[in-house]
Order: sequence, then C-alpha cells, then structure tokens
Amino acid sequence: MKIFIDTANLADIQKALELGIVTGVTTNPSLIAKEGLDYYTTLKKIASMTDGPVFGEVKATATLAEDIIKEAREIYAIAPKNMVVKIPMNTEGLKAISALKKEGIPTNCTLIFSANQALLAALAGASYVSLFVGRLDDIGQKGTDVVSEVVDIFANYPDIHCEVLAASIRTPMHVTDCAIAGADVATIPYNVIMQMAKHPLTESGIERFKNDYIKVFGE
Ligand code: G3P
Repeated sequence: MKIFIDTANLADIQKALELGIVTGVTTNPSLIAKEGLDYYTTLKKIASMTDGPVFGEVKATATLAEDIIKEAREIYAIAPKNMVVKIPMNTEGLKAISALKKEGIPTNCTLIFSANQALLAALAGASYVSLFVGRLDDIGQKGTDVVSEVVDIFANYPDIHCEVLAASIRTPMHVTDCAIAGADVATIPYNVIMQMAKHPLTESGIERFKNDYIKVFGE
C-alpha cells in the first residue's frame, strides 16, 4: 500500500516527504482554504515539492460538467508532470471524468461512500477513487468495509485500472484496516503518520537499551 499525505500545509508536507515513505500529496478545497494562501499557487508549490502524484480538486463552485472540465484543464496545466485532478462523485462529475480521460488528464473521483459510486467512477475512467473512511465511521457505517468491497470488486475485472485510495483517515487503526483490506493507497494526515510510528514499548525499550549501555560504557 502506498502512503500519501493528506494536507496542504507546506511544512508538514516537507517533513513527511523527508521520512522517505510518503509518495504523494492529496488536497481538497477545505485543506487549502485552511492554509489561507492562493488556491492555484498552493497547488503549484506542492507539485514542485515532489515527483509523486499531487491531487488538486476542482473548486466546489463548479457544478456542470462543462465547467468542471474547464477548471480541470486549468488545474492539470499547473503541473502536467504529476497533477491528478480531483472531481467529486456525481453524474456531472462522471461526465467530466469520462471527457478528461479522452484528453489524457488523470482524475481522482472523490467524496465516494459506496461500492456502486466507486464502480461508476472507475468505469468512467477515473485513475483513483477516494473512499472517505472516517466520514462513514462518523455515521455508524464501517468505512473500511466499503474499502474491502471496492478492492474485491475491482479485483474481479482486470480491465479496471483504477486505484483504491482510502481517505478521511483519522487513526492508525484506519490505516491498518485499509492495508488489510488491500487499498492501493492511504492518504493520511501528518499527525496520524506520526502516531503510526510510535509505540510505548518501543520507547521504553530504547530507554532501557540506553540506560544499560550507559551503566557499562558511559555516555
Ligand atoms: O482526503 C479527504 C480528507 O481530507 C477528508 O478528511 O477528516 O475531513 O473527513 P475528513
């Protein structure tokens, strides 16, 4: 499973990339708005920080396929080498994804909450589908079950070339469960990546090694 970082915070992206395990960056209008910088400038800066895929979403104000397509072209043009355009799941979005596929513009269909939505997006030509695990958990539906369903469905059809991207990740357990489910990618907030690396027994073990070493060999 690949790990992307889910943020538009440039400092966190830099720190995450330095770990050597993060190979992509996902954003969305809320994450970019939180940073308070220009939308396209933020995407351009992020795309310059990595050779991996960078995901820029069409603004929530674009609702008709023709407007989504127009804006998707603009976002893709920011960094054609690694930009993937995020398009929310609905019928206008599917029309746009299908048209953009013909133009060779890679898309990620986002805000997906069901296997049927993911299937439609893949058939429309999306390169990725973003399944929102945390938001399903928020309403009492097990988000990682949908990840499993989509992975199993896509595995039935070798001609479906669409990556399952687990999103709305809130805890290290979400990451574990998505990996067990076979997601191709998990896009993870910086703080959750940090939590994943930690374990109290590791920290106490390091402390004991250090103390035992110092007792015999000194500092
Ligand atoms: O990748 C989508 C993610 O940013 C949404 O997360 O916590 O707002 O559901 P959340």
